[in-house]
Amino acid sequence: MKEIGVLASGRGSNFQALIDAARSGYFPAAIARLITDNPEAYAIKRAKDAGIPVSVLDFGSFPDRGAYEKALKREMEASDPDLFVLAGYMRILPLAIVKAFPGRIMNIHPALLPSFPGLHAQRQTIEYGVKVSGCTVHFVDEGTDTGPIIIQRCIPVEDEDDEEALAARILVEEHRILTEAVRLFLGDKIRIVGRRVIIR
Ligand code: GRF
Repeated sequence: MKEIGVLASGRGSNFQALIDAARSGYFPAAIARLITDNPEAYAIKRAKDAGIPVSVLDFGSFPDRGAYEKALKREMEASDPDLFVLAGYMRILPLAIVKAFPGRIMNIHPALLPSFPGLHAQRQTIEYGVKVSGCTVHFVDEGTDTGPIIIQRCIPVEDEDDEEALAARILVEEHRILTEAVRLFLGDKIRIVGRRVIIR
């Protein structure tokens, strides 16, 4: 059985979508571990309810970012699943971690990259005034939301939308494309060619 490791910092609805997909047999893998930087993350409760082991690396308890990142790398290497998924993990992974798992870390982002990377993507979307937004699953490289794109889905931005309303509609599609990307990856259907991801 293949294994997935998940990194999440908060609510964990994308993590829950992965739990449900694994449980229903949508993809043939077990979620081996949740790693979180936030001891208050609701994702921890979701993991416990599903019987998934949790590693809490409380960012605030480390002397500096470097010390946290070293501990995170150790933790990730110790569990060493087939794939890591960043499901609402709110920090940038350092190059050392990206290099340790080449082509084996995915992220979900609530905008059509390369537009609106970084934090508060839905707020940036509303403020800019674009008419179409969406979400992106991509492989993680050392940049901020810059890695090769696996799947994108479009969502129209309505005149009445505020940040919350738009975020809620995008989230529904996030859950779909994240689980779909994981299924393709685990089925060996994904090939990375330069910046392009070819799906067969
Ligand atoms: C999602 O919108 C995700 O794309 C972004 O942070 C949010 C996390 O939501 N990176 P959740 O924790 O998965 O519910």
